[in-house]
Amino acid sequence: MRERWKSNFVFVLAAIGSAVGLGNVWRFPYLAFKYGGGAFLIPYLLALFVVGIPLLILEFFLGQKFQAGAINAFKKIDSRLQGIGFAAIFAGFMVVIYYAVVMAWSLAYLFFSFNPNLPWKENAKNFFFNEVLKISPNINVLGEINYLLLAALLVVWLLIFFSVRKGTKSVGKVVLLTVPLPVILLVALFLRGITLPGSLEGIIVYLSPNFLALLDLEVWLAAVSQIFFTLSLGFGIMIAYASYNKEDSDINKNAFVTSLSNSAISLFAGFVVFSVIGYMAFQSNLPIEKVVSSGPGLAFVVFPEALSLMPFSWIFAVLFFLMLLTLGIDSAFSLVEALNTVLHEKLKHLTKQKISFVVCSTAFVLGIIYTTSAGLYFLDVVDHFVTNFALVLVGLAQSIAVAWVYGAENARKQINKVSNIKIGKWWVYTTKYVIPLALLILLAFQFLKELNGNYGSYPDWAILFGWTTVFIPIIIFAYYFLIGKKSAK
Ligand code: PHE
Repeated sequence: MRERWKSNFVFVLAAIGSAVGLGNVWRFPYLAFKYGGGAFLIPYLLALFVVGIPLLILEFFLGQKFQAGAINAFKKIDSRLQGIGFAAIFAGFMVVIYYAVVMAWSLAYLFFSFNPNLPWKENAKNFFFNEVLKISPNINVLGEINYLLLAALLVVWLLIFFSVRKGTKSVGKVVLLTVPLPVILLVALFLRGITLPGSLEGIIVYLSPNFLALLDLEVWLAAVSQIFFTLSLGFGIMIAYASYNKEDSDINKNAFVTSLSNSAISLFAGFVVFSVIGYMAFQSNLPIEKVVSSGPGLAFVVFPEALSLMPFSWIFAVLFFLMLLTLGIDSAFSLVEALNTVLHEKLKHLTKQKISFVVCSTAFVLGIIYTTSAGLYFLDVVDHFVTNFALVLVGLAQSIAVAWVYGAENARKQINKVSNIKIGKWWVYTTKYVIPLALLILLAFQFLKELNGNYGSYPDWAILFGWTTVFIPIIIFAYYFLIGKKSAK
């Protein structure tokens, strides 16, 4: 018997946990600010309903219908297509190796926060880059392993290992804590944020709409790629998670609850982020545009600095980094669970615990590269190529596989049979035409950008290294596509 989630509630919680991650806090608010403020909600919501929710329904359907992880699910559609699953899992493994490192930074900062005299008080930027990362001048200089980060990374991998070692059983318990806790902490930070001077100005900058921005194709594509990333699509995660559902679980309801909760949290996180950014601008007498930031720069420089300006700063620093850690950890272990699921199906004689141990230790060892002085550069390159290319390619392949090979109408009928809310014909059109087209345009656009010059001005060898994370999944896909012919039904 296949293992099962304890309840549908636990499944939805785990899916929300995977979706809600760093991207909700350090990516969404910044994108909204950069691409039209409140007006960004138009492309964002459109991308959510036209691309995100339909693809989430599709992934839930694949896992639940075939009762299998990503590789076997595609194999059951057509044995030549199993490479899509391999590619998804490969991309996910690449991501979790560095995602855990970001968790390790958060853990280190959490540790530093238990000090009424916050250590980054004098200069948050210098502290992050020079004292924590000990960053090298460029990617060519690897420098040394940073043992503090290495130790933090080990702790993070232990946490991940204990979360996934019993599959749905352990994940189901952990998410009861790691999904609501960061939301509660976010609410606490929100209450702190909006009572700070300058916060309102920050929120106004976050949400004041600039409708002209919508004339720019880039804004629409940014919305599609954010939706894709934030819903954890294209990694085989949602397929693996749904494969532990009963065959008659309500797919549509689960997909709507997961995706709407995720977007609500993104929107809410924006209030927290921008109220604090507004405060910081107010305190330092700078325009908000000069303070605003995203990614690691937001979480490990701007936010810490703003926190250090507040009364009782260390308490809020503890809350913030605990929030980051608990926010990200369930995204990290969802990636591991996607891999564990396919490995467990291939290696039935091994327990999940053994598989988890091998996977977690391998990922930990591979992650050591990111704890060197050039770690941030490597992280940036891999993140860029995996999320902009590998992931979108998988999404494209899987929508074609389901909509064109399996048959979208056939899938829709089966989805509706188990769902209370029925999806109309629109789902067929979007999975057959709109999603593949949107993802193709996104890919072409990203590719053209690549031709404009090396991403981040990294040297050629680093860019080539980045591209290998895209080529490997393509080669795996092509391999199975060609050899699979003989064994096809
Ligand atoms: N959904 C996560 C976020 O928004 C990102 C993520 C995707 C994490 C896939 C893990 C796997 O942060």
